[in-house]
Amino acid sequence: MIHREHWGTRLGLILAVAGNAIGLGNFLRFPVQAADNGGGAFMIPYMVSLLILGIPLLWIEWALGRYGSKIGHGTAPAVFDSLWKSKLAKYIGILGVIIPLVVVIYYTYIESWTLLYSFFSLIGKLPHTPLEGNVQDYLKPFETFLVSIIGANSDSSLFYAVPWYTYLFFVITLLLNLYILFRGVSAGIEKVARIAMPLIFIMAIVLMIRVFTLSSPDGRNVLDGLGFLWNPDFSALTDPKVWLAAAGQVFFTLSVGFGAILTYASYLRPKDDIALNGVAGASVNEFAEVILGASIGIVASVIFFGVAGTQHIAENGAFNLGFMALPAIFANIPYGEFFGFLWFLLLFFAGITSSIALAQPAIAFLEDEFKFSRKKAVLVLGAFLFITAHIPIFIKKALDEMDFWVGTFGLVVFALLEALVFFWFYNSKKAWNELTRDNDIQIPSVFYYIMKYVAPALLIIILLSWSIQQLPAKLSENDLNVWIARGFIIGLIIISIILVKLAWNKRGKENVSAST
Ligand code: PHE
Repeated sequence: MIHREHWGTRLGLILAVAGNAIGLGNFLRFPVQAADNGGGAFMIPYMVSLLILGIPLLWIEWALGRYGSKIGHGTAPAVFDSLWKSKLAKYIGILGVIIPLVVVIYYTYIESWTLLYSFFSLIGKLPHTPLEGNVQDYLKPFETFLVSIIGANSDSSLFYAVPWYTYLFFVITLLLNLYILFRGVSAGIEKVARIAMPLIFIMAIVLMIRVFTLSSPDGRNVLDGLGFLWNPDFSALTDPKVWLAAAGQVFFTLSVGFGAILTYASYLRPKDDIALNGVAGASVNEFAEVILGASIGIVASVIFFGVAGTQHIAENGAFNLGFMALPAIFANIPYGEFFGFLWFLLLFFAGITSSIALAQPAIAFLEDEFKFSRKKAVLVLGAFLFITAHIPIFIKKALDEMDFWVGTFGLVVFALLEALVFFWFYNSKKAWNELTRDNDIQIPSVFYYIMKYVAPALLIIILLSWSIQQLPAKLSENDLNVWIARGFIIGLIIISIILVKLAWNKRGKENVSAST
């Protein structure tokens, strides 16, 4: 067995895992989801989903990864194949490579906008309009700005007219990511996390304090913002849409169901703890999400635009809060350019420690299954990402389409498969022993039942209601744009199946020659 990399220290591991989880999801996605789903009405389903879905599935993914470290493989095809004696196992496992691989393509592109915005904020190139008129009016210049950055103002219905500087910032962002990956797990990912994580917390706390001391001309202050989020509203508990959104956010923010935690955990030593590491990473992530992320995005927006204004902003698009409402606020406070710079730099750091995590499963797959050197794996991945990123960069609507199938639907499917493979197709007693061995804290035994019955049942319910609610509308979209994105995903699945077949054929031959 060839040598696999390991994390350097426990602190480094926890910072890397927190960096994996803390990302654009915490600072951009969470405030929008919470506002769009009623603030205090969202938080109850969110907390419940965290406890009965998020944490148990997170532990399952850690356990699968630590098991991978034992057998010398860091991605789901080999782990599923080793646990579940079915020919299908390895093919189903490729979802754990494809999902993060597709997400990283568009995630890196959005991350590059944050770098561009922080630079433009610093040099005073973001719009400076006074807050007058209604919400639409003062957000208009910021909308025009974002539209011009991504080239959405083109006449074509198929292509964006992307300006050269947007493209340049994307290339810079991609190269930075590849450089970190090229340095490796401990000298690259872990080292970056050691620097970036403290900076993320400092920047977020500075911004939070600034937001807490804001007040609007019509007299709203921090209490209005906090009240919107933290006054529980029980009326929405019967609305399935809110539950689906809450569960989806929990998965996205914890990085559960992507395969990326599995790969990070595969760089543990086979007897390392997973129970405490798992909750530690999740706790840091939740602090960054419900305290820092919510306090910056939601509170600032409610102070300036009111609850109705904030909900209106959130409804209109995933990027409107972070890329329009917040810069509009910063443009109207002293030293706003500096705070704008800080906000987008925070997003960039949070983004890059996540995008490297999303890219690592593909690298591990090439290294473990095809015996690529790290350098060769990073080069191949880099070329792939550079070429395929042209789809979300240039094709209108492709980013949303990829995010829907892979970043919303796919990860719930994969999380369900992880639970089923481990607790049903392998063996629930052995799975529980594997999960609870060598840990620094004990996982309460109620989680056995949650992992075996409750979580899979809930995931099936979520998938079914999702399919009923959202699939018909999605599938009725039939223009060329969405079919390019879908065709790409389908093509990738087919290619991956072939790659897995090749890798296992080769492995079969090696085993035969090793035993003769
Ligand atoms: N959890 C990250 C976020 O909140 C997204 C992510 C998912 C990152 C999976 C890595 C792996 O943005």
